[in-house]
Amino acid sequence: MNHFVLLLLYTLGTSAVLADPNKEETRPSEQPRLSADSKPSEEPNGQKSEPCSKGCSCIQDDYSLELNVYCSTRNFTQVPSDIPLSTRSLWLDGNLFTTLPAAAFEKLSNLEFLNLQSSLLVSLDGHVFRGLNSLAHLHLERNNIRSLPGIVFQGTPNLASLKMPM
Ligand SMILES: *[C@@H]1O[C@H](CO)[C@@H](O)[C@H](O)[C@H]1NC(C)=O
Repeated sequence: MNHFVLLLLYTLGTSAVLADPNKEETRPSEQPRLSADSKPSEEPNGQKSEPCSKGCSCIQDDYSLELNVYCSTRNFTQVPSDIPLSTRSLWLDGNLFTTLPAAAFEKLSNLEFLNLQSSLLVSLDGHVFRGLNSLAHLHLERNNIRSLPGIVFQGTPNLASLKMPM
């Protein structure tokens, strides 16, 4: 918490020095939700949003700025390769994977939540979750996975909850 407060004070101090006095009233949290059409240059925190994965819906949380990507029930047989790297939560439930290969999510090092429910999964490669360093919550319910490779969670040091049928 102390680090956060210090960072906040630092940020406030910096912006107090650098901010144009005329713009002090337009903090991102006070902008109307649909301001993007009228003011395309004023995205929150000046972040550039990556394009959304084809066939999926991307929603950025207004306050946390975390990116949620919804790819449920799209009849995907493979994990899309164009999922934004900043994705925090990814819904891939209801697809037609049957199996997932090594490194299927390798670049998604910010991913904290992954839903793979009801996706006809029968098997997972031992290295399927490689690179998911932030993953905390994984849903594998309603698949037909009978066993998992012993090493499958070696790539997910922060896993806190796993839901799957016994
Ligand atoms: C998925 O496949 C089913 C059966 O072919 C079809 O009815 C449905 O519209 C497809 N859904 C999508 C999102 O393509």
